[in-house]
Amino acid sequence: MKWLSLALALIEPSQAALRFGCSTLSIQRIDPLVEPGNAPSAHVHQIVGGDAFAPSMPTSNVDNSASCTTCVFSEDFSNYWTAVIYFKRRDGKYKRVPIYPNAVLEPGTRGGMTIYYTQESFNSNGRAKITAFKPGFRMTVGNPQTSTREEAVQNSGLRYTCLQTILTRGSETPDFPKAPCPAGIMAIHHFPACWDGKNLDSPDHQSHMYSTTKGGFQPAGPCPSSHPVRVPQLAYETMWNTTEFNDKSMWPTDGSQPFVWSTGEGRGYSTHADYVFGWKGDSLQRAMDSSCMFQACGGPRAPLRTQSSSEMNKCAVKNFVAEETDGWLDELPGIRLG
Ligand SMILES: *[C@@H]1O[C@H](CO)[C@@H](O)[C@H](O)[C@H]1NC(C)=O
Repeated sequence: MKWLSLALALIEPSQAALRFGCSTLSIQRIDPLVEPGNAPSAHVHQIVGGDAFAPSMPTSNVDNSASCTTCVFSEDFSNYWTAVIYFKRRDGKYKRVPIYPNAVLEPGTRGGMTIYYTQESFNSNGRAKITAFKPGFRMTVGNPQTSTREEAVQNSGLRYTCLQTILTRGSETPDFPKAPCPAGIMAIHHFPACWDGKNLDSPDHQSHMYSTTKGGFQPAGPCPSSHPVRVPQLAYETMWNTTEFNDKSMWPTDGSQPFVWSTGEGRGYSTHADYVFGWKGDSLQRAMDSSCMFQACGGPRAPLRTQSSSEMNKCAVKNFVAEETDGWLDELPGIRLG
């Protein structure tokens, strides 16, 4: 019977859930995953994480070529990025919407995103072993070409919340909120968490993965046999501070909402996000095998090392594209509409 108790010990529930802040690393028009080598890429992105981020990135160990990170967990040299949101004023000019940090994160976090690595369900039901991503792993979620509400509804991991206050959660929609949101708009990206166990990437950056997420951090369904390996449920939250644009006299006269993604798409369906794994050594696996929650995952006695917000904010990458992405612009960088 010895083997049985050993087997049971191996499948004991583990409840690790990481939630942490990363400051903005850069806002510029490159995309090493979808358009490697291109500077500029098609549209503007906001990026957090390690300083190996560049038009071309190694497909092996990212942590070997990074020396700092904008994330609280100092062993995390991954990169996380999404498109950016612009406001389109009644006169047709655009201005980038600033990003502000989640209230519960490390004080001093500058812009950036909240990053989650959770179990199959948000709280505790992690009965399955969570296998950390491997060096060289990368993936995307969503598609800048998505143009119908029908398609957007189907991807339940991609949603918006109209923030009444900085702490509003829930009430997720597949499209941009139709009326001004007093504290801004939160964009949410849940990645697929079932992996084929073989490919670190795939030509479309998605088919090596399968999503059973139901959105809103609800318990996900089991992984299918085609993609049997459960990896951490990765999710991003980005808080877009729309308050300086909430004056309706600047909004379109036809009653439509004025926010557009940097792709030029204005209903919110083209939302997408990218991930390049870069945790040092076995740090992510160590954390997922523990039972820590959130802030308790970092510190001298915890699985992960942390750094201060001033150290996070010192980490930077060079601007590879000489162009203006802020202020009032006549057109979106790289986008010709109509
Ligand atoms: C949001 O933007 C407004 C207007 O620019 C600013 O006064 C406010 O401090 C910002 N809020 C946060 C939480 O950064």
